[in-house]
Amino acid sequence: LYIGVDLGTSAVKLLLMDGSGKIEKIVSKEYPISFPHPGWSEQNPQDWWDGVVAGIRELTADCDKDQVAGISFGGQMHGLVILDDKDQVIRPAILWNDGRTTKEVDYLNNVIGKDKLSQYTANIAFAGFTAPKILWVRENEPENFDRITKIMLPKDYIAYKMTGVHCTDVSDASGMLLLDVKNRCWSDEMIEICHIRKDQLPHVYESYDVVGTLTEEAAKTLGLPQSCKVAAGAGDNAAAAVGTGTVGDGMCNISLGTSGTIFISSDKFGVDANNALHSFGHADGHYHLMGCMLSAASCNKWWMDDIIGTKDYGNEQKEITKLGENHVFFLPYLMGERSPHNDPNARGTFIGLTMDNTRADMTQAVLEGVAFAMRDSFEVAKSLGIKIERTKICGGGAKSPLWCKIMANVLGIKVDLLASEEGPSMGGAMLAAVACGEYPSVKAAADAIVRVVDTIEPEPELVEKYEKKYRQFAAIYPAVKGLF
Ligand code: XUL
Repeated sequence: LYIGVDLGTSAVKLLLMDGSGKIEKIVSKEYPISFPHPGWSEQNPQDWWDGVVAGIRELTADCDKDQVAGISFGGQMHGLVILDDKDQVIRPAILWNDGRTTKEVDYLNNVIGKDKLSQYTANIAFAGFTAPKILWVRENEPENFDRITKIMLPKDYIAYKMTGVHCTDVSDASGMLLLDVKNRCWSDEMIEICHIRKDQLPHVYESYDVVGTLTEEAAKTLGLPQSCKVAAGAGDNAAAAVGTGTVGDGMCNISLGTSGTIFISSDKFGVDANNALHSFGHADGHYHLMGCMLSAASCNKWWMDDIIGTKDYGNEQKEITKLGENHVFFLPYLMGERSPHNDPNARGTFIGLTMDNTRADMTQAVLEGVAFAMRDSFEVAKSLGIKIERTKICGGGAKSPLWCKIMANVLGIKVDLLASEEGPSMGGAMLAAVACGEYPSVKAAADAIVRVVDTIEPEPELVEKYEKKYRQFAAIYPAVKGLF
């Protein structure tokens, strides 16, 4: 048996899989997120660990625990976790969707320079990336900065709690702006620019490498055998790509989670010359390009839970009948936006309302706004000559057949639906299986396990309608950005 841990933003999702890839059980444990200032976003690493412990105990309550051979992860990326010389967490983690580092991003992109950053790391600075956060702590919390002995990413903290090893993996480390992505090692230049030392960074593994086995204490806490292997795991998007079988050259996966991502796997290293898409390592030992929007399914969650006040998303969506004909638009920038605008100050907006509009039109605008914003990154990929004819889809938003249909028609491509939309936790379990020798490679595991159960075909008439709507949508942000 293998456990996949998806250390997400709203919850940790845990999945138990047998050696053939059959899902035995899924458990989820929520934890809080705090927004101490508008645009800031933090979590307490102890809450993650508590969720993992409770989740693993529940997940394995009915199985023979001695059969659990391996654990691995998909983790929310870019979050800054800092430990002191006793391996205690120094301050709450600063998350991937935190926008406080405008000044540091400006320094990195404009004083150090985008060309240099791109040469050192294959990427430029974005507010959520880890390096600008290190500079922010140095500037704003010097006493904390001076105490740092280890810098790690969220899921790496969990791996450390399990094994006592300070580790990370190539795919997740790619999003720190400290890794030389092409050569899959730390960049000496970036280490110097961030005023840190190499010994403060964890050892970099491939996602399917074993980093250790459970410590005696962790084994007792989790109720698992000490022989259980822990593999490095991946950033949640690379893990989701593994879980959806997006492994190999030119495949695509869309994730509709708290964030929204479009992930294109590649056998070769490549960079988007304009750096609108991230160029990161993949969990299979190769590479990928990715566009990331900061609010995707979270826009719908906000609209449903906080504004409308319902948990029955399906029922709300039943009222939507005017696909391709809505004149209300929604800009989904509730936490600023990363790809492709790189603007932490962008904000959410409804635009185009008239007296006859209904709640359903606004719900529809939210779903469409996310799809249109995803198309922005899709357009960048197309401009690089990448041909995408179909995509997999995963994440909470993929549970909505209507949203998947909107996505297929806004992008004008086939959307392949899988037996389960559990991307990162499934990918984590698969990486553990590879690490334990159950499969010879990540590709072999994906080929053996992942099955497409249905495909949504784009409908030419609707694609044409959405084409016009997308052009209108694309004109809104440039027109209003001066207001934010
Ligand atoms: C990717 C990104 C998000 C987080 C969400 O660059 O920031 O997708 O990984 O957990």
